[in-house]
Amino acid sequence: MNLTKNTVLIAGGSAGIGFEIAKLLIEKGNHVIITGRDQARLDAAALKLKDATPIAFDVTKEEEVDELVERLKADFPALNILINNAGLGNSYDLVSGNRAWEKAEAEMQTNYISVLRLTEKLLPHLRNQAAAAVVNVSSIVAIAPSLRTPTYSVSKAAVHSYTELLRLALWDTSVKVFELMPPLVNTEFSKEIGGENGIPATQVAEDLIAALEQDTYEIHVGQTAYIYELSQTSRAEALEAMNQRAAQV
Ligand SMILES: NC(=O)c1ccc[n+]([C@@H]2O[C@H](COP(=O)([O-])OP(=O)(O)OC[C@H]3O[C@@H](n4cnc5c(N)ncnc54)[C@H](OP(=O)(O)O)[C@@H]3O)[C@@H](O)[C@H]2O)c1
Repeated sequence: MNLTKNTVLIAGGSAGIGFEIAKLLIEKGNHVIITGRDQARLDAAALKLKDATPIAFDVTKEEEVDELVERLKADFPALNILINNAGLGNSYDLVSGNRAWEKAEAEMQTNYISVLRLTEKLLPHLRNQAAAAVVNVSSIVAIAPSLRTPTYSVSKAAVHSYTELLRLALWDTSVKVFELMPPLVNTEFSKEIGGENGIPATQVAEDLIAALEQDTYEIHVGQTAYIYELSQTSRAEALEAMNQRAAQV
């Protein structure tokens, strides 16, 4: 798709991968709305980006999502790209009595249910645009789950299946559906799981921009491409490779 003069909402654009995507999209002549819960961090990010519009909201709170959607429709009628990037992940041992269901509930709320909700609420608006896109950020662990982030992996697998179905459901509309699948990336998010060994967020943003321009719908960044290739011939080998590595998200 054409990547200039779009109006883009990045859910979770005040840090990490979302922030780097915002930077590149602004450089390419798009208007970008960044969001996050922490107002101070959001304002600081907007200041650095110069031309971005910051809007504080929590993707897990339906009232805040409703307010956001109304404001976007009123103030940014040209909005045509939604990037679902906000994410939550826990690293823990699945079999040591860590109340996995509570962690799973929170991860599913942020990573999956909130993506469904925001997308469904914005879809009528996006479908009215001549060219539009939804980008869901999943992960390498959507292809082969990691024991380091067990229920997070499951939530990202849900995002993956949902994204495939959304693409299928919208195939004959103006809305293109993309999935960004990063490997371990060096951000605040991945600190607990050795994020400093990950690739820079700038690389993920660059790969996303190139893929959007080329209409590559599933984007296997870095190590994700290797795990994806393995999974095509043997899911067991992909699972083994993922879990032999010191840290993967
Ligand atoms: N880092 C990795 O290794 C890695 C690998 C694969 C996939 N991913 C995925 O990539 C995405 C971005 O991760 P990242 O590493 O860039 O994380 P990050 O640096 O922690 O940034 C996350 C962004 O999302 C916002 N956010 C988090 N929860 C939110 C909520 N409930 N409502 C609104 N905004 C929220 C944060 O702002 P506030 O905290 O102020 O709300 C921040 O702007 C996530 O979906 C993650 O699962 C990350």
